[in-house]
Amino acid sequence: MSDTPMLDQLETGPWPSFVKDLKRKAAQKPQVKDLLGQLERSYRDKITHWKHGGIVGVLGYGSGIIGRYSDLPDEFPGLEHFHTMRINHPSGWFYTTEALRMLCDIWDQYGSGVLNMHGSTGDIIFLGTTTDNLEPCFQALAHKGFDIGGSGSAMRSPSCCCGPARCEWSCYDTMEACYDITQEFQFELHRPGFPYKFKFKFSGCPNDCVAAVARADCSVIGVWKDDIRIDQAAVKAYAGGELKPKGGGAHVDKLDIQKDVVDLCPTQCMSWDGSTLKINDRECNHCMHCINLMPQALRPGTEKGATILLGSHAPILEGAQMSWVIVPFMEMEKPFDELKELGANIMEWWTENGKNRERVGELILRLGMREFCKAVGLDPVPQSIKWPRCNPFFFWHAEDFEAEAEGKTYIKL
Ligand code: HEM
Ligand code: HEM
Ligand code: SF4
Ligand code: SF4
Repeated sequence: MSDTPMLDQLETGPWPSFVKDLKRKAAQKPQVKDLLGQLERSYRDKITHWKHGGIVGVLGYGSGIIGRYSDLPDEFPGLEHFHTMRINHPSGWFYTTEALRMLCDIWDQYGSGVLNMHGSTGDIIFLGTTTDNLEPCFQALAHKGFDIGGSGSAMRSPSCCCGPARCEWSCYDTMEACYDITQEFQFELHRPGFPYKFKFKFSGCPNDCVAAVARADCSVIGVWKDDIRIDQAAVKAYAGGELKPKGGGAHVDKLDIQKDVVDLCPTQCMSWDGSTLKINDRECNHCMHCINLMPQALRPGTEKGATILLGSHAPILEGAQMSWVIVPFMEMEKPFDELKELGANIMEWWTENGKNRERVGELILRLGMREFCKAVGLDPVPQSIKWPRCNPFFFWHAEDFEAEAEGKTYIKL
C-alpha cells in the first residue's frame, strides 16, 4: 500500500488535485513530502497536527509572516517550522510572466515551493519555510520590488478589482486608490498595533467583484451620483434581439425588457412602453441589475466617486456582519486625502477604544454609531441607520435636545 492511501483517493476525481501537485513538488522538496505525510496522518487521527500561531518576523517588520509549527517534528522534520509568508500583491493582480517566474524562483530557493495566489485575503501566499530562511527570502523579494503584506493585528494588504484597467463600469481608479492607500498606511501594515485586523477593499462599481461589502472593515465601492446614461436605440436592439443580454452570458437569448429588466428592478423605478425606457433615477439604488443586462444600452452616470462603508467581517466576537454606509458619496481623485483622513480617524478611535480581537464594526455595535460619528468627524446620514424605523445606530443625547431648545436645527434646509 502507498504511504498516503487517503490522499491518493483525492486524486481520483475529475477535478485538478492539490495532492497531485504536492506529490510532484515532493520529488524536489523533502518538506512537501512531510506535508503530505502529516496530512495523511491527520486524516487517520482525525485531528490536526499543526500548532497554531506564534509571531515570527523579519527585520523591521512585525507583520507579513504567519508562524506555523508541526506538533510531530520528529516524525516530519521538514515541518518543524513551516511558516507562511504573505506577499503584497500588485493592484489588480497583473503580472508579467517574468515576474511570476521570479516569484516562483525565489520561493523554490527559500521555501517549500508551494504557493497560493490570491486566496480570500488577496495576497500571494508562500506556504512553508523555516525561520532561518525568512530574512534572506524577504531580502530577495525586496530587491525585486516585492514587499511582504500585512498579517496579525495590523492593517492587511488592501486589495481591489481590476477597475478601469479592464472594466468600463469602474467609477474610479481602484488600482490607483489601492496602491496609494497601501503606501499611506505602510506603518500600520507592517507593525501590528491594532486590536485586530483591519481591511480596506476597493471595488469600482456596485457589482463589487472583490466582495468589499462582505470582507472589508472599510469597503470603498464605486458609484455614480447622477442619472444612468441610456442609449434608447440600443435598448430597442436588445428588445429586438439584435443585441444579446449580458454580452451573451445571460439566462435568456433575447431580452424581454419588461419581464427581465423592469419588473426585476428592486426599487421599481423603471418603465418601458415598448419603445422608450425611463428611469426615475431619484429612486434608483444603484444595484447594477439593469446595467449588467444591457451593457451597450445603459451606463453609470458621469458624476462618479465611491460610497464608503464600514464594518464587515467573518464571525469572531459577534456574528458575521456586512458593511454599512457611513459616507454615501465621496470623490475619489488622487491623492485621496478625504479617504486617508477618514481612515486614519477610524483607526485611531478603534485603537483607543477597541478591546483585544474586537473589529471596528463590533466596536460600533458596542459603543454606538453616534459615538463613532462624533469621534471620526462624520455627520450622521440616513444610510447609517441599519434597520430603518426600527433599530437606529444613532441615539440623540440630552445635550442635543438642549441645543435644539436654544434654536439649533439639525435638518439642513
Ligand atoms: C500550516 C498550517 C496553516 C496555514 C499555512 C494556515 C494559513 C492561514 C492563512 C494564510 C490564513 C489567513 C490569515 C489571516 O487572514 O489572518 C488563515 C486563517 C485562519 N486559519 Fe489557518 N493556517 C494553518 C493552520 C490552521 C489551523 C491548524 C487552524 C485551526 C485549528 C487554522 C484556523 C484558521 C482560521 C480560523 C483562520 C481565519 C482567521 C480569521 O480570519 O480571523 N489554521 N490560515
Ligand atoms: C481538499 C482540500 C482543500 C480544499 C477543499 C481547499 C479549499 C480552499 C478554499 C475554498 C479556499 C478559499 C479560496 C478563496 O477564497 O479564494 C482556500 C484557501 C486557501 N487554501 Fe485551501 N483547500 C484545500 C487544501 C489546501 C492545502 C493542502 C493547502 C496548503 C498546503 C491550502 C492552503 C490554502 C491557503 C493558504 C488559502 C488562502 C487563505 C487565505 O488567503 O486567507 N489549501 N482553500
Ligand atoms: S467591481 Fe465593477 S468595476 Fe470592478 S471589475 Fe467588477 S464590475 Fe468592473
Ligand atoms: S440600477 Fe438597479 S435600482 Fe437602478 S434602475 Fe437599474 S435595476 Fe433599478
